[in-house]
Amino acid sequence: MSFRSVFLGPPGAGKGTQALTVASGPGVLHLSTGDMLRAHVSKGTELGAQAKGFMDAGQLVPDALIIAMVEERLGGEGANSWILDGFPRTIPQAEALDQSLQAANASLTHVVYFRVPNEALMQRLTGRRTCGDCGAIWNVHTKPTQTEGKCDACGGSLTHRSDDRPEAVSQRLEAYDKQTKPLLDFYRSKGCLVEIDADRSPQEVSQELSDALAKEVC
Ligand code: AP5
Repeated sequence: MSFRSVFLGPPGAGKGTQALTVASGPGVLHLSTGDMLRAHVSKGTELGAQAKGFMDAGQLVPDALIIAMVEERLGGEGANSWILDGFPRTIPQAEALDQSLQAANASLTHVVYFRVPNEALMQRLTGRRTCGDCGAIWNVHTKPTQTEGKCDACGGSLTHRSDDRPEAVSQRLEAYDKQTKPLLDFYRSKGCLVEIDADRSPQEVSQELSDALAKEVC
């Protein structure tokens, strides 16, 4: 079955980890607004320069910049199934997505909410390491690599995200509570929300996710 899904949840809930697993299958596009923004920052684009200060401070990047970036990308892709990871994150972003989908005669099939208590998130984020070459996600506490600083999958160098410092993580959790949590009711009222207990092993979460994606919800 094809799907058009939003992955929603607090920073560190495991959205990226699960999206990478699902998108390793054929015909699935994984669009992470965080990854897209980090690519703009590292290429030194104008958008990257505008976004960097917000990201480092743990704040959301303004809606207008994000919506333009996602619309450009979604319009140009012809994938069968896709996952939006980290978008939408505010009510105006969700309304813009609805409008773009309507204009393309399409609709979402699922909004998956990865539920994890705040206490678990700080350790997940401060321990996260990401491969700069292949994008694999590791964790010094729960998913260490064989050789410190080197990716097991491709041998690339691991990086520690600048917004995974404890001060920035606290800001991101606050931004999530204020600006993104209202989306749970927004999508619940549309009958689209699938809730997953993501405070379990990645394998257990992955199993429940694949069962959820097998049936259309919206
Ligand atoms: P973004 O990159 O989207 O960050 P985020 O939403 O804060 O999410 P994360 O990537 O931190 O976490 P995740 O849920 O993907 O967890 P992961 O799988 O890596 O955004 C960064 C910034 O960009 C934002 O702060 C904002 O400034 C800007 N931005 C992006 N999108 C925007 C938008 N739409 N609007 C405005 N601004 C936007 O896992 C985390 C760690 O936990 C890893 O180490 C992993 O190994 C481990 N882990 C995963 N699953 C488990 C498990 N089940 N058990 C134990 N450990 C686990």
